[in-house]
Amino acid sequence: MRYVRRAMSDPTSTLDASLAEIDARFAAEFAACSDEQALRAAHAKILGRSGALTAALKEMGKLPADARKAAGQRVNALKQKVEAAFEERLQAIARAARDAELNATPFDLTLPGRVPAPRGHLHPISLVREDIFEVFKGLGFAVAHGPQVELEDYNFTKLGFPPDHPAMDMHDTFWVSPPPQAPDARVLLRTHTSNVQVREMLTNKPPLAVVSVGPCYRCDEDMTHTPMFHQMEGFMVDEHVSMAHLKGVLTAFVERLFGKRQVRFRPSYFPFVEPGVEVDMGCTFCDGAGCRVCKGTGFVEILGAGMIHPVVFEHCGIDPERYTGFAFGTGIERPAMLKYGIPDLRLMFENDVRFLAQF
Ligand code: DAH
Repeated sequence: MRYVRRAMSDPTSTLDASLAEIDARFAAEFAACSDEQALRAAHAKILGRSGALTAALKEMGKLPADARKAAGQRVNALKQKVEAAFEERLQAIARAARDAELNATPFDLTLPGRVPAPRGHLHPISLVREDIFEVFKGLGFAVAHGPQVELEDYNFTKLGFPPDHPAMDMHDTFWVSPPPQAPDARVLLRTHTSNVQVREMLTNKPPLAVVSVGPCYRCDEDMTHTPMFHQMEGFMVDEHVSMAHLKGVLTAFVERLFGKRQVRFRPSYFPFVEPGVEVDMGCTFCDGAGCRVCKGTGFVEILGAGMIHPVVFEHCGIDPERYTGFAFGTGIERPAMLKYGIPDLRLMFENDVRFLAQF
């Protein structure tokens, strides 16, 4: 008994007993781990901060100096053995996982999902654009598109804007650097869709009935203006086109887009028409009774229009003695707001799905 007790308290044999115990069980413990997480936990129990082998290592300090070197070698040998077994088991686990994946029943990507994917839809501005096209296609108009980066000539000059017109100021119009091939070109982001009139009249000859919708740009930003906005433009040119056609087409347009409501025409001015008119319709918010939106008047302004100025015809190579025509234009956001009862212009551009999902 005494002998044994002495032997048990001998630091070298205590250390060796611990090493023997670790050595006896680590292989089985690693083999029992079937995933990486379990294996790492088993490894930590031996070589982690409070692991068995780490504890044994701390015991080394208690050994007599002459025994330390040999004991250190035994500890290190076991440590290497454990590490090697760990790495080997780690790789085996990874290999098994990969094999399981390869041998699994293949996943059919083409199967339909259990939850149907939510479907998006057109933005309210696009919805109104499509509505506008439908109405005008029904009236026999063709759809055309014009560039958003435009020459000053097509955006202003050919439409009869005098060279000192305030719309051309830097603070109203986004001017663009000319391309290197044409350093003297005066280029801008179109301020309205009326450039489509010029482009269509330069390339096609009457009879013409065309409508266009697209983005425009002005250096404007406040509660009711954004630097990018949308406009529609339309015009009709033929022999004997008169103001009566203008009134008939625009009244039909308002009725088809908004339902039957009052339409009124007021004299106005735009450089490219003579005479020019402003078109108002009965307010959709109060049905003409008078509210905040129509400022108590019962009417909201929805279009600018007029008989195409002879100067525009001349600039586009169309004989103003023979042909007459009318043109009209408006923003898209305003009619969209009126049609859907949207109170704030900025909602249109924030792209918040809670707003968009309501259409
Ligand atoms: N281009 C005008 C604007 O941006 C709108 C407009 C007014 C277009 C009268 C027309 C028109 O074709 O005849 O305010």
